[in-house]
Amino acid sequence: MKAISLTKENERELTRAARLIRAGELVAFPTETVYGLGANALDSEAVDRIYVVKGRPPTSPLIVHVDGVEMARTIVSDWPRHAQLLAERFWPGALTLVLPKSLIVPDRVTAGLSTVGVRVPSHALALALIREAGVPIAAPSANRFTELSATTADHVRRSLGNQVAMILDGGPTQVGIESTVLSLTGPQPLLLRLGMVSLHDIEDLIGPVTTGGAPSSGPHASPGLHAKHYSPKTHLLLTSDGVLPPRGRGAYIFVTVQAQAERVVRMPDDPVAYASKLYAVLHDLDRQELDWIAVERPPEAPAWAAILDRLRRAAG
Ligand code: TXA
Ligand code: MG
Repeated sequence: MKAISLTKENERELTRAARLIRAGELVAFPTETVYGLGANALDSEAVDRIYVVKGRPPTSPLIVHVDGVEMARTIVSDWPRHAQLLAERFWPGALTLVLPKSLIVPDRVTAGLSTVGVRVPSHALALALIREAGVPIAAPSANRFTELSATTADHVRRSLGNQVAMILDGGPTQVGIESTVLSLTGPQPLLLRLGMVSLHDIEDLIGPVTTGGAPSSGPHASPGLHAKHYSPKTHLLLTSDGVLPPRGRGAYIFVTVQAQAERVVRMPDDPVAYASKLYAVLHDLDRQELDWIAVERPPEAPAWAAILDRLRRAAG
């Protein structure tokens, strides 16, 4: 686990943020994946505010952020062996576990589901905030519904600016895309959202995982599975061999094959480094009033699976 070493300035900010959380206000804070829009998970009215500010349908459950297994166990009613194994290996980190919820979790948090998503973020500021507030913090990504997730405090300011009590600035997030979501509530573990904690890593530890199944009705088992999600406003398309739209002003994001466009962005060929930069690049290009953003299709390899997933959704 990353050691928490905070400057005096950070400490004052944290104390204020924790006080706001306890008072039922919204605080945006950095996690290692993307910024979260946080509220006291045990305070139904505070959680309500998240939905209003995000413009999020009430049918989309929230992830609850905790500072460790002990706090996690207060919000779930069952802690199976798989949860323990996964927590030991991947927490703090970019893996959300869906488990049966305990009675202290308001229905508002889980969109009426009897299960709750829980994770321990690895960002020092996030962990310190949860500890200082002393309560689990419900937080979706800190962006308006369907928009690109925020990976800097500036992205949060542009999307939600005056609607949050405070934005904790922890610099750009490292992982860059949202956590892997895994349900442990059925007969077999079920992957609900791809992330940088890979299916391979999970199966290595706990055996076979079912993929690609979300019920089609009722509260969404995983709104992250919705096609139109994680999108820039500018039309985004996936492309191969440097083939670009014939008309309009556009941007080209590539790793291997170069091509001419109004804006050209070369990305790292390492998927971890690529993911870390992706949303920041898209946010930036999205402000350039371009007609399109063409992205070189990443390889179909497991290490690129989460990136390909988000790009496909962004392409709609
Ligand atoms: O990395 C992340 O996960 C970020 C940071 C802030 O932690 N959060 C995030 O939250 O991406 P959000 O709300 O944008 O996405 C939450 C995902 C959705 O796909 C949702 O369906 C799933 O978690 N989820 C939450 N609770 C669930 C539940 N009880 N059952 C099934 N899926 C759940
Ligand atoms: Mg989101």
